[in-house]
Amino acid sequence: MDWGLKNRLSRIIRPKTGHTVMLAIDHGYFLGPMTKLEKPGETVKPLLDDADALMLTRGVLRNCIPAELDKPMVLRVSGGTSVLKDDLSQEGLTTSMDDAVRLNASAVAMSIFVGAPGERESILNLAELVNEAEEVGMPVLAVTAVGKELAKRDARYLGLACRIAAEHGAHFVKTYYCGGFEQVVDKCPVPCVIAGGPKLETEMDAFRMAYDAIQAGAIGVDMGRNIWQSEFPAAKIKAVNAIVHKGLTAKEANQLYEEAKSKAKK
Ligand code: 5RP
Repeated sequence: MDWGLKNRLSRIIRPKTGHTVMLAIDHGYFLGPMTKLEKPGETVKPLLDDADALMLTRGVLRNCIPAELDKPMVLRVSGGTSVLKDDLSQEGLTTSMDDAVRLNASAVAMSIFVGAPGERESILNLAELVNEAEEVGMPVLAVTAVGKELAKRDARYLGLACRIAAEHGAHFVKTYYCGGFEQVVDKCPVPCVIAGGPKLETEMDAFRMAYDAIQAGAIGVDMGRNIWQSEFPAAKIKAVNAIVHKGLTAKEANQLYEEAKSKAKK
C-alpha cells in the first residue's frame, strides 16, 4: 500500500486501536432531508468528539461543514437514484477524483448492488473508481447496499458482496451486521465496518449489535440513524465509541449511555 493511501486510511482507522467510529450522514443523497438530518451541520456538532470520521456527500461537506474542522472525510461519490423509485440499484459515479482531492477527502465511498438489476454497472463503477483512486493514493470504501431489500442481510449474501467488493480493489468495506458475521469477515481480505441500518427499537439493541460485530472481527462502525435519531445522540455515540475503542460490553456501554444521558438532562 502506498504511503499516501496508508496515511489517509490511518486518519480514519485509529492506529492505536485499529478500529474506527465513522458517523454516516450521507443519507440525503437518495432519501432527501431525513428526520434529524434536516440540518446536517447542526446534527453533527455535538457528536464530533466521538466520531473518528464523517461519511457524507460533497454537497453537505461544502455547505454544512466548516473547512477548519480537523476530521477525516469519507466522501460518498455514488448516487443518481431516489427513494421514489423501486429500484435503487442504478447508481452511477457522481463526483470526480479531482473534486475528492480538492475537498481533501480521506477516502471515497460508493455502493455496489450485488444481485440487483444494477449489479454489473455498480461493480464496474467500483473497479473504475479504484483505478482512479490508486493513481492519487485515495482509499476506497465499498458499501454493500441492499436497496429496499433489507431481508438480504444474511451471512451468505453479505459474505458474497463483501468478497466481490474486495476482489475489485476496495480498500475497506461497509456492510450490515448479521448472524454468522465472523464468516463474512473471515472471507473478506480487507477490513469491514458495519452500518447501523434503520433505528433499532432500543439503545441496548444497537450496543449489542456494535459489540457483537467487533467481537466477530469488524474494525468498527459507520453508523448513522442509530446515533443521530437517538433521543440522546451525544450520549449514544460516546457509548458506541467506548465499545469500538475500549472494548466495553453492551451492558457497560448502556451504563455509560445512561450516565451521559443524565448529565445531558441537567
Ligand atoms: C446508505 C449508507 C448509509 O451511510 C448507511 O446506511 C449508514 O447509515 P445507517 O447506520 O443509518 O444505516 O451508506 O447506503
